[in-house]
Amino acid sequence: MAKNKALKNSRSSQLQLGIVGGGQLAQMLALEAAPLGIQVHILSEKERDPAVQVCKNWQKGNPNSRKDVIEFSQKLDLLTFESEFYEMTSYFEIQEKALQGASLPLRQESPSLSIFPSPEAMQILQNRSSQKAALIKAKIPVAPSIEVNTKEDLTQAWQKFPKGFVLKKCRGGYDGYGTYYCQSQDDLVKLHALFPAEFIAEPLISFKRELAVTLIRSQDGSLETLPLVESHQEQSRCDWVIGPVKHKKLSGLLKKISHLLQQLNYVGCVSFELFDTGTELLVNEVAPRVHNSAHYSQEALSHSQFLLHVLAGLGEKFPKVKLLSPAFCMSNLVGQSNEPAEIPCNLSGHLHWYGKDENRVGRKMGHVNYTGAATKELLKKALLERKKFKL
Ligand SMILES: Nc1ncnc2c1ncn2[C@@H]1O[C@H](COP(=O)(O)OP(=O)(O)O)[C@@H](O)[C@H]1O
Ligand SMILES: [Mg+2]
Repeated sequence: MAKNKALKNSRSSQLQLGIVGGGQLAQMLALEAAPLGIQVHILSEKERDPAVQVCKNWQKGNPNSRKDVIEFSQKLDLLTFESEFYEMTSYFEIQEKALQGASLPLRQESPSLSIFPSPEAMQILQNRSSQKAALIKAKIPVAPSIEVNTKEDLTQAWQKFPKGFVLKKCRGGYDGYGTYYCQSQDDLVKLHALFPAEFIAEPLISFKRELAVTLIRSQDGSLETLPLVESHQEQSRCDWVIGPVKHKKLSGLLKKISHLLQQLNYVGCVSFELFDTGTELLVNEVAPRVHNSAHYSQEALSHSQFLLHVLAGLGEKFPKVKLLSPAFCMSNLVGQSNEPAEIPCNLSGHLHWYGKDENRVGRKMGHVNYTGAATKELLKKALLERKKFKL
């Protein structure tokens, strides 16, 4: 595992940062990186991808193809990911070659390419089973779970969690895609159709609310923790976020999280989705990347999660991050039809529209950030204003 590096005092205006993926997260990373004087490159499959709309250095390619990834890496000093679900083999290979100073060939002027978060950390956190094991090892409270790889395991899950359980795909699940509820024998039979595949099963947790916290860890190990938020899901998809919120168990949890990130030698932004059961704070999921629950940081904080992620990768000291208003709210704009969307003028919130090629049911099309005095009023305003969109 690489040692922590000393932080830098200046940066070259010729630094080449590659972002793997072309969605809205890559778009917002690119928009924050460019004004720092960094040349941003995108690897993605479609010219209409949101990140390609704002970045001229685009390589058409598949983030899981060795050939495409190696070609992409040749232009770069730094590489990061917008999603945790890429196959890591090629990224390990690039990292290994970069560490040896060997040519892949890598850029002549800059023989070292740094990948953040590291392929090791990504590989552990991209799989629900190894992610859970890492959390348990760090003594972080989680829901109990068992691995479910066959129909027989499914029956065992039903015996172990007779009040119902949630089946989660070990890899590739997001926004509820890859999450299945089982609350009856009928459900159980229907789930048979999913196999063969790798899942974990967790009992249904009756939480009071869902919370989330995002942290950014730099190369020297310093850690910035963004405010705790409440995040509300509709059909397992984030619908709105409010904050800041308080929880008496947070500081204890953060100590354990800090230890976990240190063990992983983690660099960059990482989000922890939490269940507040009333008595406990359980970690539901870890996302090793910038995250929807921290989009509020664009307007409510002095520095956004996107900027902080890039600074972490550059190996620069974090600025002092300040909360700019007593309360904030973010509402997601999720497609409700397949018709082109209509955006209202004169919104009181700050719109971030992703520019996706087409509106689709369930597709995240944009979000609106609000700042003000109290979360309750902001949420009310956000939900009212959202009705003016045709989505
Ligand atoms: N064990 C559980 N009990 C109750 N609800 C759950 C459980 N696990 C997940 N959920 C609900 O489903 C949502 C999506 O699940 P999650 O594990 O976060 O997967 P993903 O966000 O990757 O689709 C959660 O935000 C939560 O609302
Ligand atoms: Mg989730």
